[in-house]
Amino acid sequence: MDLFAKICIDKNSLEHMYIQLFKSIKNMIEQGVLKANDKLPPIRQLADLLGVNNVTIVKAYDLLEEEGYVYKKIGSGTFVKPSGNYRYLNEQHKYPVDEDFRQMDRGQIQIRNNMISFASATPTPDLFPVEDFKNLLIEVLDRDKGSAFGYQESQGYYPLRESLVSYLSAYGIFTHAENVQIISGAQQGIDVISKAFVQFGDSVIVESPTYTGAIATFKSRGAKIIDVPIFEDGMDMADLEGKILTHRPKLIYAMPNFQNPTGYSYSQQKKQKLLELASRYNVLIVEDDYLSELSFHGYESATLKSLDIQDMIIYVKSFSKIFMPGLRLGFLVIPQKLHHQILAAKHASDISTSGLNQRAFDLYLRKGIWKQHIHYMKNIYEERFEIMVHCLEKYMAPLGVSYTLPKGGLNFWLCLPEGYSSNDLYHECERNNILILPGSIFFTSQGESRYFRLSIAAVYPHEIDFGMKKLSEIMEKFLKAKATSNINAYFPIL
Ligand SMILES: Cc1ncc(COP(=O)(O)O)c(C=O)c1O
Repeated sequence: MDLFAKICIDKNSLEHMYIQLFKSIKNMIEQGVLKANDKLPPIRQLADLLGVNNVTIVKAYDLLEEEGYVYKKIGSGTFVKPSGNYRYLNEQHKYPVDEDFRQMDRGQIQIRNNMISFASATPTPDLFPVEDFKNLLIEVLDRDKGSAFGYQESQGYYPLRESLVSYLSAYGIFTHAENVQIISGAQQGIDVISKAFVQFGDSVIVESPTYTGAIATFKSRGAKIIDVPIFEDGMDMADLEGKILTHRPKLIYAMPNFQNPTGYSYSQQKKQKLLELASRYNVLIVEDDYLSELSFHGYESATLKSLDIQDMIIYVKSFSKIFMPGLRLGFLVIPQKLHHQILAAKHASDISTSGLNQRAFDLYLRKGIWKQHIHYMKNIYEERFEIMVHCLEKYMAPLGVSYTLPKGGLNFWLCLPEGYSSNDLYHECERNNILILPGSIFFTSQGESRYFRLSIAAVYPHEIDFGMKKLSEIMEKFLKAKATSNINAYFPIL
């Protein structure tokens, strides 16, 4: 009991007491202070010792059990679980130890010079408007001098927020500069929102599969991630409603247009249904709009925010796929009642986004260069998109690989026939200098998947046909070899 007498519980802290206790015991286990099979104190004794309610101890022990730190024996008590690797339990390793997969979980992939990468969804640097931006940076420095290098307001440079209001009106979102929060990229936006609203143990609903960066952020907050399957026309709404009722999530994270990784877009009915559920159950929706501009064939890629008459959605906008990811610039549109929490979280993250970049981007929008640029990017991507559509029909369909053609965006989501894992396919392709992304990295707890993602952002038109032909050759061998090894794996038992 001496060990436990040292635990400090701060009754005035904003953090629940059971979470504080959970963390203290977890640390004692991770640091080896408590050893395998050590018994934790009985509930009443520990409650008396720490001066807290029995319920606090019960909840802390339950959470320790859920996280894999302890086990319970009916009638005997709670014991430390024997395992040498507690430190990593929260990471829920899905794959066997494999550095490539760990890197992909962290949003990185190694590309050798001679490789064709269908893995990266980041535009190649030759598409960046470097000259235009250089001239604007010079203009800003001549105009604003040292002010361009001072701290910017945490909410963002006011003229830029005004420009963004006018930019948004072209996409049917009518708001005010007061509702716009500048962020250092959409990834920071998701992080700031999580900091503001998600506490340890809270539930968050995500589409399954979903963007790996969002999974990482929610995990880092200690959130319970609840998956809802996504279909070609959006999330499974019945499942979503059931999970809202069961888990009472703090927020729902969704990409209604050209979802990453599937490329699926919500039907108009599902967009409306999502809004209706958010309103009925008073749940916050975070809409990640990372490229709704890239709609092809006249598809109407309305954002949820443009339909949000009740002001319930936090809209997250990234410019990384259509502008320059290294600029680290994006923005949020926030419901009025949430301004303060978001602003406090943003300030705690990095005080403010680069003032110099904000000022130059403001001029980029005001001078109308943005419009020309987006037109240019759309043409580039549309050409690649059409080539890829053609290649899928030519090379993938005959192999029995299934897919749904997206209505825009950069990603294609393909499915191998039954019995095959895209983890294995990834390795086979990587050895042959073709990069794909295995579907497993986009699921919160699925170590294997038949799906894989191909992106057209980082491949030139001439590489697409060449790369897809090569991919189909690799796959043909892969499918045949696996089929043969599957046959050999079974023996008659009679
Ligand atoms: C769906 C999605 N959201 C957010 C991000 C992060 O964007 P940013 O570079 O603006 O932080 C990405 C990047 O790939 C993404 O795919």
